[in-house]
Amino acid sequence: MKRLQSLGIVVGPKGRGSNMMAIAAACDDGRIDAKISVVAAPKSGLPLAGRASAAGLNLVVVPYVPESTYGLRLAEALEGCDLICLAGYTRLLPDEVLGAFPERILNIHPGLLPRFGGQGMFGLRVHAEVLAAGVTESGCSVHLVNERYDDGRVLVEKRVPVLPGDTPESLGERVLEQEHLAYVEAIQLALRN
Ligand code: GRF
Repeated sequence: MKRLQSLGIVVGPKGRGSNMMAIAAACDDGRIDAKISVVAAPKSGLPLAGRASAAGLNLVVVPYVPESTYGLRLAEALEGCDLICLAGYTRLLPDEVLGAFPERILNIHPGLLPRFGGQGMFGLRVHAEVLAAGVTESGCSVHLVNERYDDGRVLVEKRVPVLPGDTPESLGERVLEQEHLAYVEAIQLALRN
């Protein structure tokens, strides 16, 4: 019998867990042919911890300190995963993790790349920059992760209109709906390859 592939989700300290839950729902209803075997978070007590436990997900805390062992500890927590999905993780991944999962790490970015990505471009800042640029479209991008910010090959991109009167928050909500669809599509693609 074919082994069910396993996903590792890595979240940041401010993650709401909405992408994690969208991925979990897609694993449950069969759109994604895999299971989430671990969710790695940098500390306990995050708001998303409740959602993770209600969904029966295995949440493992991997603190950022001591920095010198962080890479090894994170790689160990993710050991055995076939694909890693970053969701709300705003750091560069340590070399130990990049080396352990070549071309097997995805990130979701709440803007169109490459223009609205790079160091410091996360959260509402992305949407504020989009509005300041006066463009008529925004969107989200799921890309492969490498040693630079928001730099790897984009696997799936979804676009939304920027509407008159949009605030960073209203635009962010419109983008987030698409993020959940884009992430599921990108995981399906990545698991097929
Ligand atoms: C998303 O907007 C994603 O694009 C970015 O971080 C946010 C995480 O949101 N990388 P959530 O925790 O999945 O709700």
